Amino acid sequence: MISQNIELAKKNLDSGKLIGLPTETVYGLAGNALDPDVILNIYEIKKRPFFNPLIAHIGEKGQINNLCINIPDAAHVLIDEFWPGPLTLILEKSEIVPHLLTSGSNKIAVRLPSHPMAIKLLQSLKYPLAAPSANPFQYVSPTSAQHVIDQLGKSISFVLDGGPCSIGIESTIIGFNNNEVEVYRLGGIPVKAIEKILKTKTKPMFMDKKLTYPGQGKKHYSPKKKIFCISHGESFKAEKSKSIFISWKPDSKSFDSISLDGSTRSGASRLFSILRRLDATEFEEIYIERAPNRGLGPAINDRLTRASHPS
Ligand code: TXA
Ligand code: MG
Repeated sequence: MISQNIELAKKNLDSGKLIGLPTETVYGLAGNALDPDVILNIYEIKKRPFFNPLIAHIGEKGQINNLCINIPDAAHVLIDEFWPGPLTLILEKSEIVPHLLTSGSNKIAVRLPSHPMAIKLLQSLKYPLAAPSANPFQYVSPTSAQHVIDQLGKSISFVLDGGPCSIGIESTIIGFNNNEVEVYRLGGIPVKAIEKILKTKTKPMFMDKKLTYPGQGKKHYSPKKKIFCISHGESFKAEKSKSIFISWKPDSKSFDSISLDGSTRSGASRLFSILRRLDATEFEEIYIERAPNRGLGPAINDRLTRASHPS
């Protein structure tokens, strides 16, 4: 069932069930982050390996003190600036956090989303919500309630409908190691904005070849169709007749464009729904033009690269 009833969402969660949760980035598959049975259920439904930890979502900044210890000053600076919003912080976990949530790590990923319905729901709960993106492992993330039903409708009975996600790509993930600020995933807050506030350079960890976390897996966000990324102005020769070109911004030669007006915000908010729509067409190959390297462009290109990795 797709519903806007926050109380019903709370009822489902309080009885140990999972729901589809709207956030400004993507929809999450959400349940009580402190209940190991619920967490197990999330892994099972998502078909996600247990060694890939989940993000805990909170409704108020102060709740971070229940879940985390030894919070570095830089984290407080980022919280003041970017929460609520598409920023996840990796911090030392407190005793109450189950190891299953963090895949055995002594660090927990936490975020305060900015979607008003998510905040209202989270503030009504006595526990944080574990919520990975509500897609099967390695598939495109959902940016509407219907996307969640399309993919996980058989496994969950309730999706809280918060409309289409305003950002459309996942949160930026930042960690701290001694005095270094590490970027684990490009996302809804540009790295440049983080570096500006902290007045320091960050260390990119998202292409780490050792693959510390499978969220960094090369094949990710993958639709079923074959995707090829091309640079602006690059010529390409389609291998199959059933192929199409998706330009970055509207262009008379393309089937569709990622961005409606050339802005990276528009591109981010449309990316996953375009990939999904193309998956339902008869085209066999999709040639997609990369985003420019500004704003959310690097995060969009990161998704495109992973979506296009051969299986
Ligand atoms: O925007 C988002 O962050 C969305 C919405 C629903 O909030 N959530 C999301 O969750 O993208 P998920 O599970 O699809 O991606 C979480 C990423 C994974 O790549 C995971 O490896 C990483 O966060 N992660 C979680 N806990 C971690 C930890 N303790 N240390 C390092 N990475 C962690
Ligand atoms: Mg995900």
